[in-house]
This record gives sequence, C-alpha cells and structure tokens, in this order.
Amino acid sequence: MAAAYKGGGHWAVNKWESFDNFTKHAYPSATHGNRYVLNHVNSIGSATYAKYDEVTAMPIGATIAKPSFVVSAKGQASIGPLFVMEKMTKGFNEGTADWRYAMVMPGGTTVGLTGGANSGAMGFCHECHEGAEDNDFMLFLPEDVRAK
Ligand code: HEC
Repeated sequence: MAAAYKGGGHWAVNKWESFDNFTKHAYPSATHGNRYVLNHVNSIGSATYAKYDEVTAMPIGATIAKPSFVVSAKGQASIGPLFVMEKMTKGFNEGTADWRYAMVMPGGTTVGLTGGANSGAMGFCHECHEGAEDNDFMLFLPEDVRAK
C-alpha cells in the first residue's frame, strides 16, 4: 500500500505508514467513495485525536492520512486515493479553519491541495467536514473499528 503513493509531491506519502494507526481493520467509508479506509495520525496529532468527541482544537502540524482501497466483485483489491488533512499555521486559510486537504492518487499524483495546485477541487472535502465544527472538523472513525 505504501509504495502505491510514492513518487508524488506530497510529503505525507513517505511518512503516513509511521503514523499511529487508529483503525482495528479497514472499514467501508461511504463518504470517501465507498472505499475501504484506515486512519493514521501523526505524533503531533495523535494524543488529541484519541479524545474523539472531546476534541475542540487539533494542534498545528497534526496530520491525518487515510489510505483507501476498493474490492471488486471478484474479490480483487486495488488501491484508491490517499486522503490527507493537515492543520496548518493560523491564517493559512480562513475558509477551512487552516486545514489543508489533499488527495493523492495511486502513483503519487496529487489531485488537489487546499491553497495550492487545484485547490478548488478540494472544496468538497471541507464542505462535508464542516458539519464537525465543534470537533475542529474531525469526523473520527466508527466506534467498533477504533484501535485506541
Ligand atoms: C460527504 C462527506 C465527506 C467528504 C466529501 C469528505 N469527507 Fe473526509 N470524512 C468524512 C467522514 C464521515 C469521516 C469519518 C468517518 C469515515 O472515515 O468515513 C471523514 C474522515 C476523514 C479523515 C480522517 C480525519 C477525521 O475527520 O476523523 C480525513 C483525513 C479525511 N476525511 C479527508 C478527506 C479529504 C482529503 C476529502 C476530500 C478529498 C474528504 N475527506 C472528503 C466525511 C467526508
């Protein structure tokens, strides 16, 4: 899975595997294209993310990476995009409460980056995450798949 995203320009493609894995096992996410996903959180964000519904603000530098895959009717798995959220410094982007969203395709191409190339394509990310304003736009994992 790790190799699939390498080659791209996003720094997290080489790091996400060493982030804390919060997921017992991959679970289907209807909101990320019905793909199976895992949630990995870096050391800056991990302790705060683990508070789940008590979270009010994620620390600057917190990064959550969500690799994905799809399984065909014949049972064959293929890699889907890597979804990334990074909490940037204050003032980075008011419209997303300083979250930088990214979607990296298998092969490493970054489809869009908030405030960077093709930023508009990532607008739908925050539009949906906006529902979780009280938790700094974190939507967390279903309880039964939480490893922490
Ligand atoms: C239609 C709603 C929706 C859209 C659109 C959406 N997300 Fe999410 N996102 C969720 C939900 C719900 C969760 C938590 C449950 C899950 O994983 O399905 C989540 C979780 C995440 C997480 C883990 C951090 C957290 O919130 O707990 C990341 C990272 C993430 N999404 C990135 C993205 C990116 C990047 C995009 C755009 C390319 C995106 N999301 C688009 C609803 C959405």
